[in-house]
Amino acid sequence: MTKLRLAIVGAGPAGIYAADILLKAEKQFDVSIDLFEQLPAPYGLVRYGVAPDHPRIKGIISALKDVLDTGQIRLFGNVYFGRDVTLDDLKKHYNAVIFSTGAIRDAPLAIPGIDLDGSYGAADFVSWYDGHPDFPREWPLTATSTAVIGNGNVALDVARILAKHADDLLPTEIPANVYEGLKASPITDVHVFGRRGPMQVKFTPLELRELGELNDVDMVVYEEDFDYDDASKAAVESNKQIMVIDRIFRKWRDEPQTGASRRLHLHFFAGPVEVLPSTGSGQAASVGGFRYERTEPDGEGGVRGTGEFREVAVQSLYRAVGYFGSPLDGIPFDERRGVIPNREGQVIDDNDEQVHGVYATGWIKRGPVGLIGHTKSDAMETVKHVINDQANWWTPEHPEEQAIVDLLASRGVEFTNLDGWHNLDNHELALGEAAGRVRVKVVPRDEMVRVSNRS
Ligand SMILES: Cc1cc2nc3c(=O)[nH]c(=O)nc-3n(C[C@H](O)[C@H](O)[C@H](O)COP(=O)(O)OP(=O)(O)OC[C@H]3O[C@@H](n4cnc5c(N)ncnc54)[C@H](O)[C@@H]3O)c2cc1C
Ligand SMILES: NC(=O)c1ccc[n+]([C@@H]2O[C@H](COP(=O)([O-])OP(=O)(O)OC[C@H]3O[C@@H](n4cnc5c(N)ncnc54)[C@H](OP(=O)(O)O)[C@@H]3O)[C@@H](O)[C@H]2O)c1
Repeated sequence: MTKLRLAIVGAGPAGIYAADILLKAEKQFDVSIDLFEQLPAPYGLVRYGVAPDHPRIKGIISALKDVLDTGQIRLFGNVYFGRDVTLDDLKKHYNAVIFSTGAIRDAPLAIPGIDLDGSYGAADFVSWYDGHPDFPREWPLTATSTAVIGNGNVALDVARILAKHADDLLPTEIPANVYEGLKASPITDVHVFGRRGPMQVKFTPLELRELGELNDVDMVVYEEDFDYDDASKAAVESNKQIMVIDRIFRKWRDEPQTGASRRLHLHFFAGPVEVLPSTGSGQAASVGGFRYERTEPDGEGGVRGTGEFREVAVQSLYRAVGYFGSPLDGIPFDERRGVIPNREGQVIDDNDEQVHGVYATGWIKRGPVGLIGHTKSDAMETVKHVINDQANWWTPEHPEEQAIVDLLASRGVEFTNLDGWHNLDNHELALGEAAGRVRVKVVPRDEMVRVSNRS
């Protein structure tokens, strides 16, 4: 029987679903899969992106865990493609590789002042509150008033975590340093700005409704934003999600404020213009305000500027305008879209020619939009090509399973494996149980590796 030795780089949902689909679908080949992950823990953004107060979504991890635990996949954690292992190495040990490296960087927002102190990317903040080992332990939460730019679900996650009282997050898996940081935050007002209208938002009803359920936080919406144009009225009538969103806004428009100690404001028709510096003298300038241009519907779902500029005083600002993929050594990359160029998962070069043996799936294949479930259909498409492309597979010099283990060891790579992940997982769950919490995440990378690799 033909043997398929497959490397998958990136142990987020896309990579794990690809492995699962291949193992279930493939009967003609004897398949063996090695999954490389730069972090000592698997699950990508499900562990390091999904908000800690969304345990139901975090629960997807148990389905991903079942795939890893079938015994047919080897996990090599703490292995960074491009440094610890290269494309040439993979060609020597495997028939093909699927890249499922996702996206972790913030997309840029090119407005003056965006680089001021106190202006942050949402992705960095998310990585901090989800305990990603490669981000600083401390987050400067000194602002009383902050701005969040964007109207996607990430913007709502960031706004909710900033507005929520730390004690309401304590039962979740937030790391201890994150709880301490949020507990000390003096925030009173979180302002979310969307450049289009309330009927053109990208966030979803469940996530919006949740904002209104926060303890001791009042929702503030502004009546001037709800004079719907024809396109918005049509959207309410034709789109069920928008209809529900409209209903949620109506409730908040009718509801009196309760005098809560924190407020979450939703502003629409606000196109970002500039992050303003603070006016205080002496120290380096930091965020002092946000300047935006009032927009108006253009009749086609888009907006145009009105020439009316407004300012709001804030001491910090988070841009949540999307994520962006990162290039991988030796692999074609589309700098404009932040993805690996591909045809249905088959990677292509600058001349549109297929790069044999190289595939992509998940966010690095199609860009940073879509839910975890979407990575499954993605993986199906990519895996189908891996199977059908047998004539173009690489012929490895060292297909023996031990060879890659020896290579990593010879390079001094302190890799972790699936048993190691079980050690770390059990350790975090035990820490959580002792503290009456779901889990207490281990944050420093060296500690993650130490706990994983202890026998
Ligand atoms: C803040 C946030 C919250 C979200 N919340 C939800 C939600 O509640 N519900 C929902 O359905 N969807 C949610 N999503 C979307 C969901 O996370 C994505 O659809 C999904 O994670 C994409 O999967 P992926 O495997 O392509 O990428 P990722 O999950 O990012 O996985 C990529 C993996 O590749 C690894 N990697 C990267 N580079 C290398 C390298 N050079 N070498 C080795 N490994 C590498 C990374 O460490 C990572 O583990 C959220 C997204 C974000 C950003
Ligand atoms: N709970 C959940 O289910 C959950 C949580 C988090 C993330 N996710 C998913 O993860 C994916 C990524 O989410 P995301 O929020 O990063 O991306 P997103 O859904 O694409 O939203 C990006 C937002 O940024 C705005 N934006 C982009 N460029 C801008 C600019 N120059 N100025 C002002 N605003 C700008 C967009 O406005 P326009 O619409 O006008 O372009 C949009 O409102 C989505 O599919 C999301 O649903 C899901």
